[in-house]
Amino acid sequence: MSNHKRVAVIVSSDSGFRGEREDLSGPEIRRIMEANGYTIVSATILPDERELLAQAMADIADQGLADLILTSGGTGFSPRDCMPEATNDVIQRAVPGIPEAMRAYSMQVTKRAMLTRAAAGIRNRTLIINLPGSPKAVRECLEYIVEPLGHGLEILAGESSNCART
Ligand code: MTE
Repeated sequence: MSNHKRVAVIVSSDSGFRGEREDLSGPEIRRIMEANGYTIVSATILPDERELLAQAMADIADQGLADLILTSGGTGFSPRDCMPEATNDVIQRAVPGIPEAMRAYSMQVTKRAMLTRAAAGIRNRTLIINLPGSPKAVRECLEYIVEPLGHGLEILAGESSNCART
């Protein structure tokens, strides 16, 4: 399966950045997205720093390096968790439906899904989606959204414009 869409992965993790903990969420994102025909163009681990995360996302979107940025981690209640804030700093248009859908589905798996503050939105022609940090959460969320996500990215790219006219 091939859809030619490019994905940049950004992991927010202090311990992952310092090399103290192996990140398993980034590889899980890669596995699922490649199985769905996407190309991973970059994968970065950054510390839980709002300005660094925001700058990394803005750079990718402003240089048109990816159609989709998937982030993992930093969406919870830990004092350092700031991925939704960094995302909201750089998006021009919010996409609340995607995190709403992930939470609604995930709460059938674990009520703790209500604890993710994940956000999503669009900057230029790039869609940014936050995912929680565990590989299990990544898998549950991503596999649930991946089909409608493809349609959204086509519309964002101007490849599919009119849903009403079937
Ligand atoms: N969503 C799904 N689908 N599955 C999960 O196991 N874990 C939750 C939640 N979302 C979980 C989930 C938990 S326990 C937390 S604390 C939050 O995601 C925040 O995770 P993060 O801080 O790693 O981003």
